[in-house]
Amino acid sequence: MEMGTISAAYIASAILFILSLAGLSNQETSRRGNWYGIIGMAIAIIATILNKNVDAYGWLILAMVIGGGIGARLASRVEMTQMPELVAILHSFVGMAAVLVGFASFFDPANTLVGAAATIHNVEVYLGVLIGAVTFTGSVVAFGKLNGKIGSKPLLLPMRHQLNLGLLGLSILLGWWFLSAGHDGGTLPLVIMTLIAFAFGVHMVMAIGGADMPVVISMLNSYSGWAAAATGFMLSNDLLIVVGALVGSSGAILSYIMCRAMNRNFVSVIMGGFGTTAGGDEDAGEQGEAVAIQADEVAQLMKDAGRVVIVPGYGMAVANAQHSVSDLVKSLRSQGVDVQFAIHPVAGRMPGHMNVLLAEANVPYDIVLEMDEINDELSEVDVVMVIGANDIVNPAAMENPNSPIAGMPVLEVWNAKNVIVSKRSMATGYAGVENPLFFKENTRMLFGDAKDSVDAVKSSV
Ligand code: TAP
Repeated sequence: MEMGTISAAYIASAILFILSLAGLSNQETSRRGNWYGIIGMAIAIIATILNKNVDAYGWLILAMVIGGGIGARLASRVEMTQMPELVAILHSFVGMAAVLVGFASFFDPANTLVGAAATIHNVEVYLGVLIGAVTFTGSVVAFGKLNGKIGSKPLLLPMRHQLNLGLLGLSILLGWWFLSAGHDGGTLPLVIMTLIAFAFGVHMVMAIGGADMPVVISMLNSYSGWAAAATGFMLSNDLLIVVGALVGSSGAILSYIMCRAMNRNFVSVIMGGFGTTAGGDEDAGEQGEAVAIQADEVAQLMKDAGRVVIVPGYGMAVANAQHSVSDLVKSLRSQGVDVQFAIHPVAGRMPGHMNVLLAEANVPYDIVLEMDEINDELSEVDVVMVIGANDIVNPAAMENPNSPIAGMPVLEVWNAKNVIVSKRSMATGYAGVENPLFFKENTRMLFGDAKDSVDAVKSSV
């Protein structure tokens, strides 16, 4: 394929990727956005393969069959609740790819660049490997934290800020050594810097506490984009640069949105430590006793209510209860009850987790409201039903300055007349923080798996 045709194909792909991002920003257009992305990626892959510099078709087909086969198998088997871990591990692949491409392009015997061009290329290699290595190990640790293989408590090494600063300073010095050594002596500083960046990625994510994981995911998403953009520079591939920049900047915007949703400062998240108590003691105090309720009583309360709000959380995803919830909502609405959903920005384990589940269960979009849209109205609500949510409805975030989640905006469900909490036990949520909501006077606990509980309420309704 001629270069002109390839450039045209790349421009078409880039436009489709931009349309895809625009489509994915809204539930109603997200399916279309997904298709734009698929078509854009198909065009990009075909155009790249048909480039006349590509001749190792045997290897290429073998790699695509193996990689595509593993990817298709994983994607078809992954549970909705495992999506965040899958995304994290996929980010790590982008990081590793940037490291490998960086080394390959540094050792490439066909590389005949000299003077300023060689220096620019070496800067691209150095930065690509640096960002890629941090993304790789950071994402692997995030994967471990999300699937529970690594504890969610932050690892707070003594003098960790000085350690980070030291590693950064060392990387800059090594970069200077790498650039001045040129092609012949550059291998050693490049390898040392890669090892440092691997260690930095591990330390950075290990130091971040459970409640800050949403920011980490979007931040690694952003890093993977910049790693891809750096790879694009190394390979002189314009489309990879554009796509990397799109992913990098959208990840950065998402990180900002997540920080705002959690009332956190981005720099302090990166510095780590959120998820532990500032004063070391959470001081949950005397909690009192939680009062249980049965499904038929919940059904009666809901039928008698004028207005009901449902707050879904991670437990709804675990229990796969979204279809049961949707059925319950349908029958309540058919009996004249006004039902709405209140969605916290970090409910579940990935951005938009609850919205995706509710869309899958065909819940109408217009009754699904964001936290900011409904929080002030919760005092006018007769019944709030919290389904498998915990941290996002924890009053300690507002009432207890020593709480690990102090300052995080939460859904103020306790202001409603009645609060029903559906969960299996008194266990804590992701941040590992006790929840005083369960002991409030107007709260009743509906114990059991969320799907079983909602089904039972629905049959009584
Ligand atoms: P969590 O605070 O994790 O609480 C979920 C609750 O669901 C648990 O307390 C659990 O209690 C209950 N549960 C689990 N399985 C259940 C089942 N089968 N049936 C009924 N209940 C079940 O969830 P949340 O309120 O959605 O808050 C999200 C948390 O995850 C926040 O801390 C957030 O920072 C963090 N996080 C979010 C993201 C993103 S981007 N959304 C990413 C990473 C981390 P039982 O065990 O007693 O049932």
